[in-house]
Amino acid sequence: MNMALSPANEINETEFFRRDVIAGLSKKQKTLPCKYLYDEEGSRIFEQICELTDYYLTRTEAGIFHDHLPHMVQLIGPDSVIIEPGAGNCEKVEPLLEALEEPRAYIPMDISPEILLAARTRIRSQLPDLEVDAHVGDFTAPEAWQGVVTEKVAGRRVIFFPGSTIGNFDPDAARQLLAGFAAHLAAGDGILIGTDLVKDSVVLERAYNDSKHVTENFNKNLLARVNRELGGDFDLDAFAHRSFYHALRQRVEMHLVSLKAQQVHIAGERFEFTEGETIHTENSHKYTLEGFAEMLGGAGFTLVRQWSDRGGLYAIHYAEIR
Ligand code: TRP
Repeated sequence: MNMALSPANEINETEFFRRDVIAGLSKKQKTLPCKYLYDEEGSRIFEQICELTDYYLTRTEAGIFHDHLPHMVQLIGPDSVIIEPGAGNCEKVEPLLEALEEPRAYIPMDISPEILLAARTRIRSQLPDLEVDAHVGDFTAPEAWQGVVTEKVAGRRVIFFPGSTIGNFDPDAARQLLAGFAAHLAAGDGILIGTDLVKDSVVLERAYNDSKHVTENFNKNLLARVNRELGGDFDLDAFAHRSFYHALRQRVEMHLVSLKAQQVHIAGERFEFTEGETIHTENSHKYTLEGFAEMLGGAGFTLVRQWSDRGGLYAIHYAEIR
């Protein structure tokens, strides 16, 4: 595995985390970057979210893949290389890898080495002929792409980006991220990407406030992580998880609400919270089919095809560099 994290770099990782936490909590609207939700514990809790009945996204997306796999396989063609930024446990890509015509390689990228290592072992045992080249790193950082995109391959390179992960970026950042992906690709290469669709707020809010409180644990793990890694003294019981749909911004916002006036100490700094003040931890942007086609176009992709489920809850888009 390509370990971008050498021991020397690990010191930097904690230092980056410290700086981002201090910068985020110093803002008027306190915030913490959502990528830090996904440490080993966070990735494990996220897998539980994906299995929740209330969280319709994962199974709806899997259903669309199941129903339209032959068409996707035909569009991608033989000898492809599949690159998956933020692959996590790499389970979503498996049906595609199994169906593709002689794929050359699968390149998962993730910030959690533990989860990536386990996934690589599993995929190698299931698809022994497929080259699996795992890369540890933050896919939003250009350095993480070193060695991922190598010499010209026989077939297409396709970036696989499921799970509505693009929705966790604000529209400007999403367009930039997609344009960055496009810059790693050549004419004929493609992207297969999943987005959650705009819909009734009741359905959306249930998905992000599940009845089993798994999302609450996921959100609060960020505070636990600050305590673990930066010696913070967050009292997890003094914060509550809150998610709501902001219709105008077309996004679900996730916050942690301070239940009382309190102070928190992190790495020698002190942060004041008033009662009801929130830390904004995540956004999940929802798109229309037209809206996302426009975004892909703005990032340099040409839309080839969009698929949705019967209920119109979710969409998968395939676009190419022309
Ligand atoms: N990509 C997922 C989404 O936007 C991420 C996600 C699901 C998430 N549930 C969450 C992120 C809860 C933070 C908290 O749906």
